[in-house]
Amino acid sequence: MLFTHVVGARPNFMKAAPVIAKLGERRDVAQMLVHTGQHYDSSMSQVFFSDLGLPTPDVNLGVGSASHAKQTALVMIRFEEVLQDRRPDWVIVYGDVNSTLAAALVASKLHIPVAHVEAGLRSFDRTMPEELNRILTDQLADLLFTPSVDGNENLAREGIPSSRIHFVGNVMIDTLVRLLPTAMAAWPKLKEELALWTRYGLLTVHRPSNVDEPQTLRSLIEVLQKIGADIPLIFPVHPRTRQRIMSLDLVTPISGIQFIEPLGYVDFLALQGNAEFVITDSGGMQEETTYLGVPCITLRDNTERPVTVAIGSNKLVGNNAERLVHEAQLILDGAATKGGIPPLWDGQAAGRIADQMTKVVGQCGAA
Ligand code: UD1
Repeated sequence: MLFTHVVGARPNFMKAAPVIAKLGERRDVAQMLVHTGQHYDSSMSQVFFSDLGLPTPDVNLGVGSASHAKQTALVMIRFEEVLQDRRPDWVIVYGDVNSTLAAALVASKLHIPVAHVEAGLRSFDRTMPEELNRILTDQLADLLFTPSVDGNENLAREGIPSSRIHFVGNVMIDTLVRLLPTAMAAWPKLKEELALWTRYGLLTVHRPSNVDEPQTLRSLIEVLQKIGADIPLIFPVHPRTRQRIMSLDLVTPISGIQFIEPLGYVDFLALQGNAEFVITDSGGMQEETTYLGVPCITLRDNTERPVTVAIGSNKLVGNNAERLVHEAQLILDGAATKGGIPPLWDGQAAGRIADQMTKVVGQCGAA
C-alpha cells in the first residue's frame, strides 16, 4: 500500500510530519514524500525538514514562485508525471495552499483516491486564494479529516457524504505537543541572540490583503509602531512581506519593531510561547496560540478557524487600527479574555488519521 504525501509550503510541513510518522508505524505501508517546491528558501522549507524530522522528499517538483495559475499548473504537470510513474494507492494532501489543490486535482483525474488533512475549514471569503483551494480540494477528496466540528458542518452543507468525513482533531497540535519541550530548551539561547530582555509582542503578516496594497501596508506599520512604543514587537518577516516593505521606502529604523529573518519551527514556537501576545494574519498561529494560551489578535475580518474566536483566545480586528490598539492595550492591562483548548487538540490526531486510513484501505493493520 503506497501512500504519497504532497507538501509545498511552510504550513504543510508541520501537518504532514505526524501523519507520516504514524503511518510509518503500520505494517505493509510504503510512503513517498513529494515536495512541490512552492516554498524553496532554506528558511521557509529546509529548516522545517530538520526541525520536524521529516524524511528527505523522494521527489522535488521545483515549481517555485509564480502567479497562482502558473504555480498551480506547474504542480499539476509535474505531479501527473510522478503519479503515472509510481501509481500510489492514495495521495494525502494538507491544508489549503496552491500545491494542495493542484495535487488533489491531478490525483482525482487519474482515479487515485485523495485524503485531505485539515478539511472543512471555511472563512466564507472567496477573495482568499486559500478559500477556493479548500472548497475545491474538499469536493475532490475521498476521505476528509477535520480538525474541529465546524468543519463537519461546513462539509455536510456542501453535500459531502458523511461517510467520507472524520473528525480527528488538529494535527498541527500533534507537532506542537511533540516539540514544545525542545522549543522551551532552545529558548534561553534564542532569547540571548535576539536580546529579548523585556516582555514583547510577536508579529507576523503576509496575506495579500494586508501587504500587497502599499497604503494598507503603510497604515498597518504606522499603527504597529504605536503599539511598539508600549511594548517592543518582534517581527520575523515573510519574504513576500519583505519585498513589499522594501518597496515602500520607509524611513528606517522603524522604532518599536525588530525585524528578523523567518525562523525555523522550534525557535518560532519558543518565541510564540513566550510572547505577551501575537499579532498575525496567519491561520496556523491562531491555532497554536489557542493551544499555548497566548492571546492572539488577528489582522483579518474573518477566519476559517472560528473555534479559536469562540473559545476566547483570538480576536479578529481586520484592518481597524483602533480595534487593534484597543485589543493590545486590553492584553497589556491584563484584561484579555482567557481561552481554552478545543476538543481533540490533544496531540493524538495523526494516530486517529492513521487508524482511519488503515480501516478504509483494509489491508494494513497495526504492526
Ligand atoms: C503561501 C500560501 C498561504 C500560506 C503561506 C505561508 C497559497 C495560495 N498561499 O503563501 O496560504 O499561509 O504560503 O507562508 O498557496 N517567496 C520566497 N521564497 C519562498 C517562498 C516564497 O521568496 O521560499 C516569495 C516569492 O516572492 C513569492 C512570494 O514569496 O512570490 C509568495 O509566495 P507564495 O508561495 O506564492 O505564497 P505565500 O504568500 O508564501
